Amino acid sequence: MIAPVGKPPVTIRDMSHDDLSMVSDIERRSYEFPWSHGVFRDCLLAGYNNIVLLRGDVVAGYGVLSVAAGEAHILNICVDPAYRSHGYGESLLDEMLFRARAATVRQVFLEVRPSNEPALGLYRKKGFHKVAERPAYYQAHDGREDAAVLSKKLVTD
Ligand SMILES: CC(C)(COP(=O)(O)OP(=O)(O)OC[C@H]1O[C@@H](n2cnc3c(N)ncnc32)[C@H](O)[C@@H]1OP(=O)(O)O)[C@@H](O)C(=O)NCCC(=O)NCCS
Repeated sequence: MIAPVGKPPVTIRDMSHDDLSMVSDIERRSYEFPWSHGVFRDCLLAGYNNIVLLRGDVVAGYGVLSVAAGEAHILNICVDPAYRSHGYGESLLDEMLFRARAATVRQVFLEVRPSNEPALGLYRKKGFHKVAERPAYYQAHDGREDAAVLSKKLVTD
């Protein structure tokens, strides 16, 4: 008998300390200037909304959202390079926006490198627009790179 072949189920849940080695591995393969293991540990200890997207029981992506005083900040969103363009980044962003709404957040902010076309494409698709620039915000190999600050309002007055 041939076992049926299908895609593993995809779920999103809170990140735990046990996920950090897989999360850090994806982070190192995704960014030229990755967050350290310790930064993720601090995000867990700080009680941020830290989430992972699982394919079966393997971490394929993650997101980190901080919420305070009616505002939320997307601090990280990342999908394993092997699993990009499957809609996982959008699912992670949807989950973070859902959690922000549940916390009665009115506006969500994030920083992005202007050279990061995939991320800009995702944020534009989800209704974010540029509200500011932060000069020399990011590390770069030849000095610093500016950040674009993007925002999305979740409720209207
Ligand atoms: C940004 C990132 C999270 C997107 O994840 P993903 O799972 O590949 O994205 P999805 O498949 O969910 O795509 C959702 C939308 O994003 C946009 N998008 C995705 N990849 C894109 C690309 N290469 N170029 C332009 N737009 C892109 C599209 O609008 C897409 O919608 P569509 O499929 O209807 O066209 C992923 O590229 C990543 O992890 N990058 C490295 C980490 C990073 O830079 N994070 C952002 C830091 S600010």
